[in-house]
Amino acid sequence: MATMKDIAKIAGVSLGTVSNVLNGTAGVSEPVRRRVLQAVRSTSYQPSQLARGLRRVQTNVIGMIIPDITNPFFPATVRGAEDQAFSNGYRLILCNTDNDHAKELAHLNELRTYLPAGLIVIPSTFSDLTVQARSYREVGTGVVCIDRLPKDWEGDTVTADNQNGAYKATRQLIEMGHKQLATITGPMHLTNALERLNGFKRAIKEAKLKLAPEYVQEATFDKQGGASSAGLLLRLIPRPTAIFAGNDMIALGVLAAIRDAGLRCPQDVSVIGFDDLELAKTTSPALSSVSQSGYQLGSTAVSILLERIRGYTGPAKHIVLETSLKLRDSIAPPASTKPARRAAAGNHRAPRR
Ligand code: RIB
Repeated sequence: MATMKDIAKIAGVSLGTVSNVLNGTAGVSEPVRRRVLQAVRSTSYQPSQLARGLRRVQTNVIGMIIPDITNPFFPATVRGAEDQAFSNGYRLILCNTDNDHAKELAHLNELRTYLPAGLIVIPSTFSDLTVQARSYREVGTGVVCIDRLPKDWEGDTVTADNQNGAYKATRQLIEMGHKQLATITGPMHLTNALERLNGFKRAIKEAKLKLAPEYVQEATFDKQGGASSAGLLLRLIPRPTAIFAGNDMIALGVLAAIRDAGLRCPQDVSVIGFDDLELAKTTSPALSSVSQSGYQLGSTAVSILLERIRGYTGPAKHIVLETSLKLRDSIAPPASTKPARRAAAGNHRAPRR
């Protein structure tokens, strides 16, 4: 069993210095503090003993781990968290995992050395954070998971109402007359992707429409995933007249696939996304999307952390944020339900599809 003496020896400092670091007393330089914490992490020092020592030691740092900085949705969550943290005297340390679980674990371990006052985690695709995140909570560091949740997570959460958002989008398409719908989901072990699929299926079932398995495609939450899955959907017979995309990055891929297939949106295929990113307004046609506020996800997560930092020790909070439907030009009634165009006098062209 590692002792403080072992830690002192590994770190090359005195016992008193180890004690100062663990008890948060002043007079320890940052490099020495990090060396001691590095030694602590490399030993089998009992967390409970460590917890007693470290419980009182927290900096004004809040760590934030996101899965994909190239998806504009996540910088919005960071902005919300940073604004709320800064205005309350805290500083954010941002870590991007590229959906790589090993990278995620490395960030989680490294962040310990900053003795963060709190941690916000958006789990990577193949994440099982519960063990690592639980060890933070054992030393009194608040941990909030947002957007998608690790398996068996029992801590604080902030998510969007994914299911209802997807339900509203699908209802919209059905009310426009679409009967052959399809969806492209994110990775199905992510809670947000599964909730959106459930919302889509709920609307389909309520309208008593058929949904053959091949009209549900699982992809990655990015443009490439959307494009390749849409390529498969567009070759189905009957071809879907409307596609609900699990997020706007997937929807971008769908729009590209529709174009590459020589088809038109919305004349041949309507498309709705999820996130309502700024880019949704600039695509051609402008993308209809389910709006969720990444900014609010991040700022709400920091608000929960501040309550924990200020002593709230009550049960875990589970905040679910409303979504809203933003209708733009990427949806229209299916061609078959549009009134036939009146042929101009003497010109009996068939109505354009
Ligand atoms: O990570 C992909 C998606 O998860 C984002 O686009 C956003 O929808 C989040 O919920």
